[in-house]
Amino acid sequence: MTTAATRTGWTVKGDAFVLRDRIIGLENVYFQSESLSSDGAARSGGDYRQWQAMAALCEGNPVLIVSLCVSLAGALLVKVHRDSGGIHWLGDSSIGKTTALCVGASAWGGDDFKRTWRATSNGLEGVAAMLSDTCLCLDEINEAGPREVGAIVYNLGNGTGKTRATRIGSARHVHRWRLSLLSTGERSISAMMQEGGKQAKAGQLVRLLNIPAERQFGVFDNLHNFVDGREMADHFKDQCAEHYGQAGIKFVEHIISQGNADFGAILAQIETQFTHTDTQAARAASRFALYAMAGELATEAGILPWKEGAALDACKTMFSEWQAMRGTGATEHQQILQNVGDYILKHGDTKFTEKNNSDDKPKADRAGWYTDRPGGRTYLFTSAALKEAGGNYDLNRVLEAIDRAGWIAERDHGKRSKKTTIMGGKDNLYWLQPSEEAAHA
Ligand SMILES: Nc1ncnc2c1ncn2[C@@H]1O[C@H](COP(=O)(O)OP(=O)(O)OP(=O)(O)O)[C@@H](O)[C@H]1O
Ligand SMILES: [Mg+2]
Repeated sequence: MTTAATRTGWTVKGDAFVLRDRIIGLENVYFQSESLSSDGAARSGGDYRQWQAMAALCEGNPVLIVSLCVSLAGALLVKVHRDSGGIHWLGDSSIGKTTALCVGASAWGGDDFKRTWRATSNGLEGVAAMLSDTCLCLDEINEAGPREVGAIVYNLGNGTGKTRATRIGSARHVHRWRLSLLSTGERSISAMMQEGGKQAKAGQLVRLLNIPAERQFGVFDNLHNFVDGREMADHFKDQCAEHYGQAGIKFVEHIISQGNADFGAILAQIETQFTHTDTQAARAASRFALYAMAGELATEAGILPWKEGAALDACKTMFSEWQAMRGTGATEHQQILQNVGDYILKHGDTKFTEKNNSDDKPKADRAGWYTDRPGGRTYLFTSAALKEAGGNYDLNRVLEAIDRAGWIAERDHGKRSKKTTIMGGKDNLYWLQPSEEAAHA
């Protein structure tokens, strides 16, 4: 019997997988698309061997390995009865975050398979449904409005769209999806949501795990034969734009070829290798175990040209990074706020002058200016002074902490600093208004 599939991904029976341009598996299915656009759908192009040569360079580079594992894991979710989820690579500009995203995306599609957060806040449901059982790759969280980020993370995790009536009053088909998520940004999900006035709920953070992407050379640990990270990043980007999409197909074929294998049991076995201490960490551990399983299955199938255990090791490394960031996050956070607070107490009167009295000279080396506003005195820090005030942390970490604490009083769109006219010139300054409770919470 021939059946019609109205959506992409695994069929209801689960023996076939529907892509817009092909059906993988033996079921007699044809695809009846509900939408005309196929922009950004999974598709393949270029040469599979060349793609594998690119994938071989991921060895020794856990950020890239995990990106591919997360991407492929999309096709396993249904088989192990897991919900959507993924990871958010966090790090400074130009370290190769987008490159890592391209590598992950290349398992399923080409350049247009990767999207930005901004482009996705409208039409999210349609995009998610089109990518069901694969991977949604979202670049640059900063481009989405802070209020949208929480909603996107939450809705993606839910797996169904809203029911809407059609013009003639009948209920339209509700979008459903289940997918892996890969995301990047200079800021964490929680920092973004905080800016929108919302506290990130633990559940939302577990759906999209924040993981620092900065390694030895930007996102890389092993440059193989490249002279530097820049050259390696550019190579990956070029290759991914040319050769893509076959790995996902081969992976699905491999899953189908396993017939009635007990994927749940395989996952349970891998989970025992990820140790954790509380329920939130247990959920993250289980995610990483799934990513490891995807990578090891694809290695076994000869799709990923890696040594056995390479995917598992990379997933363990990144799980530790996640734990380290979460574990020490609170104390580091408090320490930074304390340092900045102390700095203002100590130097507030000597290193800062009133913003509008441009002739005033500070008694000591200038750290910035201040201005009195309804909520209290706001200190306009230069970046050098803020770095000094934070103590032994890099500026980005300091900014992350003060942002999370809600201490940034004014900012330009998408930034933590504000372009400020001062003494006839313009300077990017950090407008800080510390609050007592946060510093000693
Ligand atoms: N590891 C690296 N070391 C040095 N330069 C790099 C590295 N990774 C990327 N670059 C350079 O930065 C450029 C941008 O790379 P990519 O888009 O992957 O970075 P990104 O981290 O996403 O940056 P942004 O925050 O600006 O989006 C590359 O074309 C390359 O020139
Ligand atoms: Mg980028």
